[in-house]
Amino acid sequence: MTIVLRAATLADIPRMHQIEDDAGELFAGLGLIDIEDMALVSIGDHGHAIDAGLSLIAEVDGRAAGFAIGARHGEDVYLHELDVDRAYQKQGVGAALVTAFVDLARRQGAGAVYLSTFRDPPWNAPFYRKLGFRDVARGDYLPWMIAIETEQAKFLDIATRVFMRVEV
Ligand SMILES: CC(C)(COP(=O)(O)OP(=O)(O)OC[C@H]1O[C@@H](n2cnc3c(N)ncnc32)[C@H](O)[C@@H]1OP(=O)(O)O)[C@@H](O)C(=O)NCCC(=O)NCCS
Repeated sequence: MTIVLRAATLADIPRMHQIEDDAGELFAGLGLIDIEDMALVSIGDHGHAIDAGLSLIAEVDGRAAGFAIGARHGEDVYLHELDVDRAYQKQGVGAALVTAFVDLARRQGAGAVYLSTFRDPPWNAPFYRKLGFRDVARGDYLPWMIAIETEQAKFLDIATRVFMRVEV
């Protein structure tokens, strides 16, 4: 299996929505999020990530299998969304996307990459820990992280969540 990483374009957005919708099924029955109610990343947010040069597609055999998108917050980069179509999961696509995303942030001169994820599912905080990310202590949350958390609190229990960071 060959994984090819490339920058996303606006034309990729419909497939990225399909991938996000499919990947969300991994949370079915866990009681962490209401997957029926979950909004997909907006076209506007995809556009911002593409414009910022922080939107990556992983192709497997010529088909988009996963994506990672982010946003700049001052010196830092936030990994906003990472999804791999279930048909391509557990084959290294997610790890390849995270590694490439961190490389991208480094090339853009970022100081660190941050993300917010669930603490317990093995494909969330434990997955990122294997890739070098470490938990951020609550007292060290930056103002923009608190703003993200305030939004999240409208639709999920933030006690199940953790912010993580890796220096680049
Ligand atoms: C998170 C996600 C992108 C990982 O993609 P992936 O292509 O399956 O990840 P990889 O194949 O690179 O797996 C990397 C490691 O995580 C582990 N892992 C991935 N999915 C797992 C699962 N469902 N159960 C247990 N371990 C899992 C792998 O075993 C692997 O560990 P290893 O290197 O020790 O073998 C994918 O599970 C997904 O789309 N999940 C739903 C959306 C989501 O949770 N996104 C992240 C939110 S912050």
